[in-house]
Amino acid sequence: MLGEDVEAKRKGLIFGAAGKLGTALTRVFAEGWDMLPVDSREVDVTDKGVLRRLLTQLRPEVVFNAKVIGGVDVCEQIPGLAFRINTSLPAHLAELSAELDFALVHFSTDAIFPDCQPGSYHTESSPAVPINAYALSKFGADCLIPAITPKAYVLRLSRQFGERPLPLQFVERMMERALLGAPLLRVADDVVCSPSSSIDVARRVREFVEGAEPFGLYHVANQGQASLHEFMSVAVELLGLATVIQAVPSEVFPGLGRRSSVTPLCSEKIPPLRPWQEALADFCREFKARRSGQA
Ligand SMILES: NC(=O)c1ccc[n+]([C@@H]2O[C@H](COP(=O)([O-])OP(=O)(O)OC[C@H]3O[C@@H](n4cnc5c(N)ncnc54)[C@H](OP(=O)(O)O)[C@@H]3O)[C@@H](O)[C@H]2O)c1
Repeated sequence: MLGEDVEAKRKGLIFGAAGKLGTALTRVFAEGWDMLPVDSREVDVTDKGVLRRLLTQLRPEVVFNAKVIGGVDVCEQIPGLAFRINTSLPAHLAELSAELDFALVHFSTDAIFPDCQPGSYHTESSPAVPINAYALSKFGADCLIPAITPKAYVLRLSRQFGERPLPLQFVERMMERALLGAPLLRVADDVVCSPSSSIDVARRVREFVEGAEPFGLYHVANQGQASLHEFMSVAVELLGLATVIQAVPSEVFPGLGRRSSVTPLCSEKIPPLRPWQEALADFCREFKARRSGQA
């Protein structure tokens, strides 16, 4: 309307908007940004020509790539697609970032690292040792992106908890089972991560793209570390449930690929997000409210 003070919105394009992190990014960037989701049913994201046409037409200021073929077992089963989505897609986006001058925000994983010493953390300068198709395909993008475009953030994450459309991932699946009255859940006590809230991560991403942090590689995680057993024990207590969380070695859940177990993250460049226990308390409140609203 004439004379009205309309603030221009910044334009972002998001790959993987329906995933766990994509859901959090969409929520956190809802105000002040036009976040356009790329519908993978309509856009062949493995075709660089298709990507170029899309990006030339939409001209986003920032492209967020939260699309992934995730999970060690899934990537062992479909390695071709895993490399196309986890390595080639981000490399193509990096080439187009250099060509069309948008900023690229890409997400990577702690799964590229070997086990670290008890109580210590992997930082941005820790050497990667990818030992399965998932880790290799993700590490490929970590290496390629900064070699191709100067305008990228590569943000490595640890295990996320947060809202996600079905199917649920490990943490939310366990919480769901506890809420449904499971008397006992067996959870590995030798798998250690820095449990992280996808909403907290998304808020930090917004600080990155709206702030003055130089482009580059960063570890973004809530502060601290926990075994999956410790994490789920705290979650069940916060949910006020009587489910017994039984500690078991991860070898009782055999998988297809070899995997690292102890890969908590911290950054040598930026402060951590708040302690994971605080973030988990917020998530448990929301999770319980949402589930009782659905009942
Ligand atoms: N979740 C975690 O615990 C965790 C831990 C460490 C790092 N990360 C990193 O964080 C980023 C986002 O992870 P996320 O957990 O949010 O991912 P997600 O929920 O599993 O999936 C994100 C998107 O990837 C696409 N996708 C997933 N599986 C697919 C399949 N089999 N075939 C084709 N497309 C598939 C879908 O995109 P469309 O919506 O386009 O269909 C989906 O919405 C990834 O880079 C991941 O490596 C996550």
